Amino acid sequence: MEAFDLLVIRTGESVFAINNACPHLHLPLTNADVTEEGVLVCNMHLSCFDLLTGDIKAWCPGLDPDGTAKNPQIKALGNISKNRTPLNVFPVRVNEGRIWVALE
Ligand code: FES
Repeated sequence: MEAFDLLVIRTGESVFAINNACPHLHLPLTNADVTEEGVLVCNMHLSCFDLLTGDIKAWCPGLDPDGTAKNPQIKALGNISKNRTPLNVFPVRVNEGRIWVALE
């Protein structure tokens, strides 16, 4: 397994573990927001992911559905944003105050 940064998130009673790299541009997610519905929102380009499944809820909302950008200010973002990939999530168990993460 390749080395990566693991990010553990506690929200309410729930604990999640994810690869600390946004699937969009692999930037850290340490400043991402988490909604009450368990959706992680990357603060860079606002892609959204389901924290339970990793599924994409929204992919760079500033881009057109085909991954391109008509807005000249983010046009360069279009070509590097076409490979939609879900968030890498890992199973978590909390037992007696300890957090266990299954990495494989
Ligand atoms: S780096 Fe997260 S949405 Fe672009």
